[in-house]
Amino acid sequence: MSKSYQDFYRHSIEDPDSFWGEQAKLIDWHKPFSKVLDYRKPPFARWFVGGQTNLCHNAVDRHVPTRGDQKALVWISTEVNQEKSFTYRELHVEVQRVAAMMQSLGVKKGDRVIIYMPMVPEAAFAILACARIGAIHSVVFGGFAAANLAARIDDAKPILMITADGGSRMGKVIPYKNLVDESIKLAQYPPDKIIIFRRGLDPKIPVTPGRDIDYAELRSKHMNVQVPVTWLESNEPSYILYTSGTTGKPKGVQRDVGGHAVALAASMKYIYCGNAGETMFTASDIGWVVGHSYIIYGPLIAGMTTIMYEGVPVRPDAGIWWKIVQDHKVTVMFTAPTAIRVLKKQDPAYLKKYNISSLRYLFLAGEPLDEPTHVWISKALQKPVIDHYWQTETGWAILTCAPGVEKTKTKFGSPSFPAYGYNLRLLHEATGQEVGNNEKGVVTVIPPLPPGCMSTVWGQNERFVQTYFTSFKDKMVYTTFDWGIRDDDGYYFILGRTDDVINVAGHRLGTREIEEAVSSHPNIAEVAVVGVADQLKGQVPLAFAVAKDPACVAAPDGRTAMEKEVMETVDKILGAIGRPSRVHFVTLLPKTRSGKVLRRSIQALAEGRDPGDLTTLDDPSALEQIRSAVAANK
Ligand code: PRX
Repeated sequence: MSKSYQDFYRHSIEDPDSFWGEQAKLIDWHKPFSKVLDYRKPPFARWFVGGQTNLCHNAVDRHVPTRGDQKALVWISTEVNQEKSFTYRELHVEVQRVAAMMQSLGVKKGDRVIIYMPMVPEAAFAILACARIGAIHSVVFGGFAAANLAARIDDAKPILMITADGGSRMGKVIPYKNLVDESIKLAQYPPDKIIIFRRGLDPKIPVTPGRDIDYAELRSKHMNVQVPVTWLESNEPSYILYTSGTTGKPKGVQRDVGGHAVALAASMKYIYCGNAGETMFTASDIGWVVGHSYIIYGPLIAGMTTIMYEGVPVRPDAGIWWKIVQDHKVTVMFTAPTAIRVLKKQDPAYLKKYNISSLRYLFLAGEPLDEPTHVWISKALQKPVIDHYWQTETGWAILTCAPGVEKTKTKFGSPSFPAYGYNLRLLHEATGQEVGNNEKGVVTVIPPLPPGCMSTVWGQNERFVQTYFTSFKDKMVYTTFDWGIRDDDGYYFILGRTDDVINVAGHRLGTREIEEAVSSHPNIAEVAVVGVADQLKGQVPLAFAVAKDPACVAAPDGRTAMEKEVMETVDKILGAIGRPSRVHFVTLLPKTRSGKVLRRSIQALAEGRDPGDLTTLDDPSALEQIRSAVAANK
């Protein structure tokens, strides 16, 4: 780490008030804040207290006078072969229409709106419209199934849901509406109204009169509206985004308004080097935090053109992303390592086909970036490829380099060093003491967390404290649940999760959620799901299940049929994204004498590693069954 970033970093830690007070100038404030940080109730940090601002104003309105004719949003769909763009002026008009549509249905400040949408511009309008009127959006990933959606509905208690007739993946239509109807049946607190955006993907969608409202029809009634922004105190909630943890019940990560806007504005400047008038292309989904921060809010707050891409990286061919870079003069790109591993398997000629001279940086995050992939893409692009590490909880990078401050050297396999604002520590799992260089520790942050990080778990302050701040006795530190290590040059390396969260193609899933979905099959008595290493996706879930009626799975035919049924059950409850790659049947699971399933040993065996300390194992034959199930699969 060289001098000037070090100074910058040190300033942020030693004098957060002056550091963040300065960064706050990157956004517009309707009313200035009276205090940069209120930390009277640890670990709850309140940033820019008393200040009034609005995310939609900062992302849209403030750019209209200076860059009204510049493209704000470019939507490219290789799924339905369409492209549309919206200038800041047009975006401003469209967002106000959607805001008026919501208001006409009674949505007010503080109300929750669930957005269950594919990657279409209308999803971005809905997000920004919520921000405009102070409604709290909760975007649910379009790949999640009915029961999962219902669980989020019941936690958020929305008054409105916005959805579409369908999404599309690899050219195949994914109908949404039946699934939405199913989720409404399952939910205890369903929304009163549902707006349906018809893309023409599923013309025969069922409609419930009085509840279901057609997007186009409602929009036509609000064409010439002006909806003023609702100014919010900096610490009021802006959105909820559900994420997985150790329990089967997803946590609603709640974010504020002012801290969120400032953190994103600062990250655009110091980390991504994204300037107004330039183009950012984040290939992710609005259902994930990367989409929230860097498809929607970050680039728009910075006055950039943001690309919203509906499709996969290899259709129509593996050159599509680089064609987008060329055609739209993309300067900064962001995606997950899995996408790069997918591209690596394609003909390298595609990388040379287009002129990508506009591109300054490719950022990668969401899962470990293996060194061969990092080396390959860096060489292929001849551009700096920056690995950075963060979480839904933080909303922006925890470990990264910051080329906007100083162009430090990157190391393959490392997301560099702590981002400004994070007082990071690697702690020994058992003692809570700081570990030295080259020693493995839990990645933790001494609170207060910097602006932009989660303010609490929606509706559950206690759970926020319990989950994140009580891992170490006598020490209130935020745990990331990741293992890390620091080398002698101060570069960090992430070594995987300390809990039962797995990362499938950059998508975060709790093994417990998958276990609950598997267990809902009537013939499953018990199940353990572990994440195993996969060359392409990073990790995939693997299930080991005990059938209630062992006779059903005694013969190969029965096992195959049952495996299929279990997979279908998971598809239905969680979505295909959580489907185990295999379901192996055993007659008992390896447990400790106190009854705890030895997941780490199962995982080790499944990955062909040593299962570790087995002194607490109750019945060794259980582990043998896992071993032979895995061996039979090879
Ligand atoms: O385990 C870490 C892994 O992904 C988790 C967070 O996932 P999510 O909440 O979906 O947020 C993704 C935001 C980019 C982390 O706890 N992870 C994320 N980035 C990296 C990573 N693991 C290794 N290297 C990374 N760069």
